[in-house]
Amino acid sequence: MRRKIIAGNWKMNLTLQEAESLADALIKDDFTGNGTEMIVAPPYIYLQWLASKRKTLPNLQVAAQNCSEHNAGAYTGEVSAVMLASLGVNYCITGHSERRSIFGETGTMLAAKVNRLLENKLGPIFCCGETLPQRESKRHKETVKDQLQDGLFHLDALSLEKCILAYEPVWAIGTGVTASPQQAQEMHEFIRSVLSEKYTKEVAGRIPILYGGSVTASNAADLFSCPDVDGALVGGASLKADEFKKILQAMNSKNHA
Ligand code: PGA
Repeated sequence: MRRKIIAGNWKMNLTLQEAESLADALIKDDFTGNGTEMIVAPPYIYLQWLASKRKTLPNLQVAAQNCSEHNAGAYTGEVSAVMLASLGVNYCITGHSERRSIFGETGTMLAAKVNRLLENKLGPIFCCGETLPQRESKRHKETVKDQLQDGLFHLDALSLEKCILAYEPVWAIGTGVTASPQQAQEMHEFIRSVLSEKYTKEVAGRIPILYGGSVTASNAADLFSCPDVDGALVGGASLKADEFKKILQAMNSKNHA
C-alpha cells in the first residue's frame, strides 16, 4: 500500500505569532489518522521551533522549503542539508516551480540538492510540472519527463524510494485554477510509467506522487479519488487550519491502493 501524504507549504508567509496560532490549531486535535501523514514546511527560521512541536504531535513531520547544494562553506545566506538534519527536519521540498523560475534553479543544481539531502538522511519532496505554454503546445509530458531525468534519474532505486514526488502544474499554483481530476490522473499515471520504465513497475508503484496547485477543501476529495494521486502539496490552503484539516480528512477517507 502506498503512503498517503498531505504536505503544507507555508512559503514566505506568517509572522512567528501567526505561525504559533496556526501550529496550535493544527496540534489541538490530531487529525491525521487512517494512515495519512502530515508534513508542514515553514520558512527556515521556524523549523527548529516547529520540529519541537512533535513532542505533542508525533505524526507531524517537518520539511524545509529549500536547501543548498553544498554541505558547508562560504555561501552567505544559504542553509545546508547538514544543518537541517541537525534540527531533526525530515524532508525538504526540491525543485518547486518558484525556485526554478524566480531563483533560476536548474536540473543540475536540483540533482546536487537531492544528493545532499539523501546523504544527510532527509527525504526530498521533488516537484515537477509544466507551464501553461508548455501544456498548450502539448509539451507537458516531455517537460515533466525531462525534469525527472535531470533531477532524479541519477539515483539508484533504493535512493529513489526515499523521495516523494509532487506534480505541480505551474498554471495551477496560486492561481485558483486546479487541474481537473482527469488531467491530474493522466499526469500521475504518466509519471509512474516513466518511473516504471527507468526503474521497475514495483518501484514505481511504491513512490508517493502528490498533486499540487490550488488544492482546497472543496476540490480535494475529487482529486484524491484518482488512483495515482497519493496526497497533496498544499500552498495557500495550508495557512488556514480548518481548510488544511478538511484536506487531511479527505485523504483519510481514501481507501488507498
Ligand atoms: P497553492 O500552492 O496550493 O497555493 O496553489 C501549491 C504549491 O506551490 O505547492
